[in-house]
Formats: sequence, C-alpha cells, structure tokens
Amino acid sequence: MNIIRVHGGHAIEGDVHVSGAKNSALKLMAATLLAPGTTTLTNVPNISDVHVMGKVLKGLGATIEVADEHTLIIDTSAVDSWEAPYELVAKMRASTAVMGPLLGRFNRAKIAMPGGCNLGARKIDMHILGLEALGVQFDTDHGYIHANAPEGLTGTMVSLEFASVGATENLIMAAVRAQGTTTIDNAAREPEIVDLANMLNEMGAKVSGAGTPVVTVEGVEELHPVVHQVIGDRIEAGTFIVAGALAAGDRGVAVTGFNPQHLGMVLKKLELMGVSYERVNGGVRVWRAEHLRPVDIQTLPFPGFPTDMQAQVMVLSALADGNSIITENIFENRFMFASELVRMGANIRIESHHAIIHGVERLSGAQVVSPDLRGGAALVLAGLVAEGETDVSAIHHINRGYERFVDKLTGLGAQVERASIPDPLED
Ligand code: UD1
Repeated sequence: MNIIRVHGGHAIEGDVHVSGAKNSALKLMAATLLAPGTTTLTNVPNISDVHVMGKVLKGLGATIEVADEHTLIIDTSAVDSWEAPYELVAKMRASTAVMGPLLGRFNRAKIAMPGGCNLGARKIDMHILGLEALGVQFDTDHGYIHANAPEGLTGTMVSLEFASVGATENLIMAAVRAQGTTTIDNAAREPEIVDLANMLNEMGAKVSGAGTPVVTVEGVEELHPVVHQVIGDRIEAGTFIVAGALAAGDRGVAVTGFNPQHLGMVLKKLELMGVSYERVNGGVRVWRAEHLRPVDIQTLPFPGFPTDMQAQVMVLSALADGNSIITENIFENRFMFASELVRMGANIRIESHHAIIHGVERLSGAQVVSPDLRGGAALVLAGLVAEGETDVSAIHHINRGYERFVDKLTGLGAQVERASIPDPLED
C-alpha cells in the first residue's frame, strides 16, 4: 500500500510555484474538440485527472503529443466518435465535460452516466435541462446517456437553478456552435469558467459575461485551433498557503504562479483567523499564525468560499483558540475527512452539513485514510504540525489533482516522503 508519511513538527520555508489549474485544464482539453486541428495548451498540470481526460480524447480519435511535461499538443482533426465510455467516466466525473463540445461539433454525444461518488450523488440534471432547452433530445439505456440534436442546436434563454460549474461549462461549449444567441442566467462565475470563455473567444467564439451571473453566447459557424495557457491553480495555491499558515518559519512561504484575486474569500477568512500574508510578484507570502482565531465559514459558489478549500481550512480551525463552524453547502459527504482528523486528536462534531470544531492545543500523528482529493491533502497538512508520524493512505486521490505534492513540500523543508507499507486491513 502506497502512503505519504509525514514527520510532524518541522518548520517549512521558501518558495513554491503552483501548477496550472486542474479544473481549467480538464475543460480546455474538452473544448479542443470544438476546433478541428491542432490546439496547444501550456501550463497543463501533470496529474492523473489530466491523464484520464487525455484518454477520453484519444478514445474519440484525437492524438496528443506531450511536447514537454506541461505542454499538450492536441490534434482533434480525426475525431470521429462521440462516446465517453464508462471506464473513464467512472474514474473521473469531469469526463462529462466532453458532452457540450461533442454536441457543438457533431450534434450528438453518448456519455456514460456518472454514478455516485464519495462526494455524494453529484447529479447532472442541470446539464441535461439546459441542453434540452437548446434543442437536444435525451435518452438513456444500459447506463448511457444518448444526446441528439438532429436539427442542430438553437440558442435560447437558460436559467440554472443553481450556479453549477459543470453545467455552465457544458452549456457554453454547446452554445458556441448553436444557431442564434444563448443566455445563461445564474451562471457559475469561477475563474476557470473565465479561462474557458477566453480560450473559446480566441478560437473565434462570441462568449461575453463570463465571470458574471449572466453569460451570453452568440453561436458561430466554426472555431479554429489556438495556443492557450492554463491559469494557475488557486486551490493548489490555497493548500500551500494553509501549509504556510500552519508551519512556516520566520522567512515564511511564498506561493506563486496564481492570481491572488482568485482566492479573495479564502485570504479574507485566513486574515480573520490571524494569518498574516503579503502580496508578492505572482502570488503571496504567508507566515505561521502564532494564535489562530476561530472562524465561521460557509462554502458557496465563487466568489464565496470554495468547497475545495474547506478541508484544508478545517485543519487550521482545529488548532484555533475557540469554536469554529464550517457549513458545507455545495456537496454532501464532504466531511468524511473530518473523522480522520478526529483520529489525529481534533475535536469535531458533525451536525448535518455543519461541522462544529472545538480548537485543541495539538494534533498527534496517526494512520489516516485519504477520503477524497482535498481531504487527503488536508490530512498531509495536518501531519506537518502533528506530533510524531502521520501515514496518509489512499493517496491516489491526492495524485488526481496535486502535481508532485510530496516534492513540493520537501522543497519547502517539510519532512515528507512516499513509502510503501503492508495494508493493515489485509490478513
Ligand atoms: C466543479 C469542480 C469541483 C468543485 C465544484 C464546485 C471540476 C472538474 N470540478 O465540480 O472541484 O468542487 O465545481 O466549485 O471543475 N448539481 C446538481 N445537478 C447538476 C449539476 C450539479 O444537482 O446538474 C449539484 C452537485 O451535485 C453539487 C453542486 O450542484 O452538489 C455543485 O456542482 P457543480 O458546481 O456542478 O460542481 P462540478 O462541476 O461537479
């Protein structure tokens, strides 16, 4: 069993550069389907979710050349299939991001239905309702969704019940090739959506309002390939900022390669908790907080506090001087990592979608299981300040979204290593 072993109690300092945003890169890769030809994406993170999306595109008939570790040259000229198979969708739900581009290019798509995952049910009903409004007919059989628009797509007004990131993206990517104008009301406003709209516009699309609640897409006849740089990963940045707030020495930790405006609410909450930071070129420098104050946080769509930073900040609140409340509004089952943190000595009570955290003096190293991507990273952060050793298992979750996580932490002086140990649950 592969684990990440953390020896707690060592200060970290220095500089860390974050990779390109996972949640942007995956959608930009899907969007290359809309422009037959060769699109080059730079600053692509080398993580397993990107490898899965690569397999989805290759399965559709694309070829991908890895020009260097972070540059993908994707040729979609020969794409002649419109099916995202179960093996890949089951591995990564974001594979469903090819539905919009396939509809835009071929007026059809066949996508395996994503099942439940460890973040709860994660439905795609809003994607379907929105695309139906654009004229797509849906059928399901044998675990697959068949989407067909024999007459092509027609622009219209779509109001989303909730500002879903995935639904907004799929709708934009389908609408760029629709007849007429599509208006998406209550659109999600995440920076990754702005990155997607920017690339589509470079390709010749007419998308306006990305980053606001109303996105307008004027359909065009064709899109052309481009060279585009993926934005920096705000969540990876936030993770290292929390690492600094927990364990940075006098020089602090400088986290660069992202736009601090993309972390506005996180930085505001950290400041309220007593974490000090300063802006540096391309990022922020953060210092260890001597006295952490408790916090009240609720996760919300951007520009609210991101659900993807909830676990990391819960580690900080576990060591704060008083009671914190964290309310999770986006996903069910996103507190699973809290019970692992309790095994490390945290005092956390879960009541429905609220976590009530009573700050403790110290955490102690333990064997813990990474329940999901962000929860896994948060457990490694907890290990940095826990007494003794923390062994985090099920690290494939962490590899999905953090490039060279262990190397980047050891680059800061953390005592962290990958190790292989016998599975304690096996006879
Ligand atoms: C994306 C991000 C994920 C982030 C999330 C919220 C990617 C690959 N993933 O996920 O890291 O945590 O945004 O910022 O970009 N919902 C429905 N029906 C739908 C669509 C969504 O009920 O049709 C629900 C989901 O079950 C979830 C909530 O809405 O409870 C938010 O989902 P959404 O914003 O769509 O997140 P994702 O795009 O899946």
